[in-house]
Amino acid sequence: MKPLFKQMLKRIDRLSPDIIRQMLSLLARENSVYEAALNSTLDGIIVCDLEHRPLFINRSAEKMLRFSTWHEDLPLWQLIEDEALQEFFSSVLQGEEKVLGREFALDRPGNARIVAISVTELLSDGRISGTLIHIEDITDKRKREAQLRRAESLAALTTLAAGVAHEIKNPLASIRIQLGIIRRLLQQCQNLHERERTMTHQLGHNLDLVEQEIDRLNAIVVDFLFAVRPMDIILMRDRAEEVVREVAEFMKDEIEQQHITLRLEIAENLPEVMLDRKYLKQALLNIVKNAIAAMPEGGTLTMSVTSANDELLLSVTDTGIGIPEELQPKIFEPYFTTKETGTGLGLTITFKIVKEHNGEITVTSKPGKGSTFTIHIPVPQPERKSLPPGEEHSTTGTSVHAGAGMTEADLQEVAGEAQRTEA
Ligand SMILES: Nc1ncnc2c1ncn2[C@@H]1O[C@H](COP(=O)(O)OP(=O)(O)OP(=O)(O)O)[C@@H](O)[C@H]1O
Ligand SMILES: [Mg+2]
Repeated sequence: MKPLFKQMLKRIDRLSPDIIRQMLSLLARENSVYEAALNSTLDGIIVCDLEHRPLFINRSAEKMLRFSTWHEDLPLWQLIEDEALQEFFSSVLQGEEKVLGREFALDRPGNARIVAISVTELLSDGRISGTLIHIEDITDKRKREAQLRRAESLAALTTLAAGVAHEIKNPLASIRIQLGIIRRLLQQCQNLHERERTMTHQLGHNLDLVEQEIDRLNAIVVDFLFAVRPMDIILMRDRAEEVVREVAEFMKDEIEQQHITLRLEIAENLPEVMLDRKYLKQALLNIVKNAIAAMPEGGTLTMSVTSANDELLLSVTDTGIGIPEELQPKIFEPYFTTKETGTGLGLTITFKIVKEHNGEITVTSKPGKGSTFTIHIPVPQPERKSLPPGEEHSTTGTSVHAGAGMTEADLQEVAGEAQRTEA
């Protein structure tokens, strides 16, 4: 209560009924603002008197605790349904203990919640006048912590795997060098009999196979490292259509060799988006390479750029073999491949790059007809316009601090009136 009211309360028998009415109505206004504030907070708040009977229970506390009955003469623990909480409040309140953040799992059908309950003394004018109980729903906080722990252990595992992959690269390189030496030695065996010549020919063929396998292993390791290493993506405002043109130019010869017709459909007045040229190019290249591989008999490859609903859409459409419906959910998984020499990491890398661009990737495909891969990149929105001067606080609503629903002028007026009445 404001000191002014206290002063006035002391002199209440000297105040006119009209002033008392005004004072009460201001107090009621103040009270309703405090109550609204307490009822609007997401935390549960309960105030008990010295006999542990609840004086005030806010809405969140009511929702979280579930009361089985209500009687103003009963102590808090006799009003609550949950047995563990009954026991807790009975022992803590009667033992006059102070408790900070004791956790409870509340079993709600289909919605289990974890709450942290604190019980402290309620002090008023320096004296203990009851108990304040604070209840916080920490379910989401706990979930986030668990997610973070999982992400951390996954990151540790990934680092480990990346380390192993990196170590594999060195022996692979050394095996490749040794094979080269063996091949040269074999070539030097000139004056051999027919039988040995056939043998060295066969050995040469074996060496080719071993070398192919080494290249394959090396590609797996390189792609794996690319997929798991944190990307040093730097997003800058840029034109995505230029990246599309670059990819088309880069792949032009290979596309022609495969008897594929290339079509570029780039809309006008496209907005700039936040992108990293190097990585976006890699993401598109992986899609285009898949599209080419899907059209062994030739066909049409269309690369288009359009914008819609605050998104820039980069699409690659082929008229190739298509993807069976049951395989579509799998294609972005690491190591999923239907190709004899594929690593199955191409689309995984593309997916990761698109995510780093805060984007999405979608696929539509019909077996025998072809597929369309679309990268959606958000178009940055212009900064929100600032409010004209003087309107900055217009949306903050009632400020409890500034007078709990009554202005300083209101108070002064009542005080002045009271003084005049006294006089
Ligand atoms: N345009 C497409 N048409 C048909 N199937 C496709 C297409 N794009 C991807 N796929 C399917 O998705 C699989 C996974 O593609 P992804 O690019 O990740 O790996 P990959 O192409 O097999 O190997 P690589 O790592 O060499 O790219 C492919 O093996 C293929 O089955
Ligand atoms: Mg691929």
